[in-house]
Amino acid sequence: MAAHYHLVPISLLGLFFFFFLASPPALACDAGDRAVLLKIKAGFQNPGKFTSWNESTNCCTWYGVKCNPHIDDEGRVTSLKYWNDGAASDGLSGSLPDELGNLPFLSKLMLANHTNLYGVLPLALTRLTRLSILFLPLNSLSGALPSFLTQIQSLSFINLSYNKFSGVIPPEFSNFPALTVLALQANNLEGEIPSTIGNLSKSLSPLILSLGGNMLSGNIPKELLAANWDLLDLSHNKLTGDPTALFAANKMTTYINLSFNKLEFDMTGIDFPVRLIMLTLENNMITGSIPSQINHLSDLVFFNVSYNQLCGIIPAGPVMDRFDNTHFFPNKCLCRSKVSCL
Ligand SMILES: *[C@@H]1O[C@H](CO)[C@@H](O)[C@H](O)[C@H]1NC(C)=O
Ligand SMILES: *[C@@H]1O[C@H](CO)[C@@H](O)[C@H](O)[C@H]1NC(C)=O
Ligand SMILES: *[C@@H]1O[C@H](CO)[C@@H](O)[C@H](O)[C@H]1NC(C)=O
Ligand SMILES: *[C@@H]1O[C@H](CO)[C@@H](O)[C@H](O)[C@H]1NC(C)=O
Ligand SMILES: *[C@@H]1O[C@H](CO)[C@@H](O)[C@H](O)[C@H]1NC(C)=O
Ligand SMILES: *[C@@H]1O[C@H](CO)[C@@H](O)[C@H](O)[C@H]1NC(C)=O
Repeated sequence: MAAHYHLVPISLLGLFFFFFLASPPALACDAGDRAVLLKIKAGFQNPGKFTSWNESTNCCTWYGVKCNPHIDDEGRVTSLKYWNDGAASDGLSGSLPDELGNLPFLSKLMLANHTNLYGVLPLALTRLTRLSILFLPLNSLSGALPSFLTQIQSLSFINLSYNKFSGVIPPEFSNFPALTVLALQANNLEGEIPSTIGNLSKSLSPLILSLGGNMLSGNIPKELLAANWDLLDLSHNKLTGDPTALFAANKMTTYINLSFNKLEFDMTGIDFPVRLIMLTLENNMITGSIPSQINHLSDLVFFNVSYNQLCGIIPAGPVMDRFDNTHFFPNKCLCRSKVSCL
């Protein structure tokens, strides 16, 4: 029996040597990509975080850089990532350099929270035919949202939230065949939401659409209301009209935030998507009463209908009983029971 005690340590030792000997050498940086990165560093005005970016070292080991491990295109730069969580002076400065378009294997471009990163999205980005993730939130980027972004058909995730983009949402933005997330919240976008945007959710539905915190106006297009979203944030805009076509018990939607708009509708007969986790409708012009169907939303944990024109008795039940009066007050004439009104 004693021999068994040795089995475990011996096999662990074997595994250790196996991995030690089999571990690949560090990826060798592609010389062309290294030259491009050094131009990008200069374009960003040599940020302090990029001191490791120098001629004498392997660019696959540089701060924020990742390379392709596959044998065919080994050492090609696939990811560039710098989320600045410190002082603005540590971050990137200037505008996005055109040289970014000269990293043909790039699939992730993630640069966030750089107060001094301004200017427009350059046309050069359209050369990145493998780009999947465009994550540029919390910067000072501005100008129009360019319709040429749709030339990058590989895009699956776009987050340009918390920048200074202005103008309208281009109607062409429905034409991203692989998109699963479009986040444009907290910019200066205005005008009506293009009716084409409903077509986005047909590509790989359901999809995340976040347009909150802009100056979007007009009615929400019926094509958007008819689509099946996973998450829909249209809050803090100037949207008008009746969005009830958004609600249907069999939709897959888990998150709806329509708060702080000018939406007008009667809630009385509505069937909400039964998978909802969040439903926030505060600060609109909603009339009627809260339907008893709402007690079927067993996953609902965030709910707010304050500052509307609702009336009648809040249907008692397992879901509505989760929320105290701060989720309902004030309204026109809502009551918990015949003798207890808010
Ligand atoms: C290049 O980067 C390495 C790693 O950060 C650093 O040790 C070295 O001093 C740098 N060389 C030059 C010439 O800046
Ligand atoms: C963004 O940068 C500022 C400093 O400029 C910092 O205080 C803040 O925590 C950062 N935010 C995030 C989300 O990283
Ligand atoms: C976009 O990025 C911002 C900043 O990190 C984040 O707050 C927001 O939730 C993101 N949106 C989506 C839909 O991922
Ligand atoms: C939406 O897509 C359908 C089919 O893919 C197409 O026929 C229609 O023209 C598109 N609508 C818009 C407004 O782009
Ligand atoms: C709804 O969106 C607004 C931003 O427009 C945000 O402040 C609020 O937290 C969101 N509500 C929920 C429950 O996520
Ligand atoms: C509901 O929304 C109102 C208006 O924005 C806010 O004052 C209240 O605190 C919110 N209630 C909860 C529970 O978040």
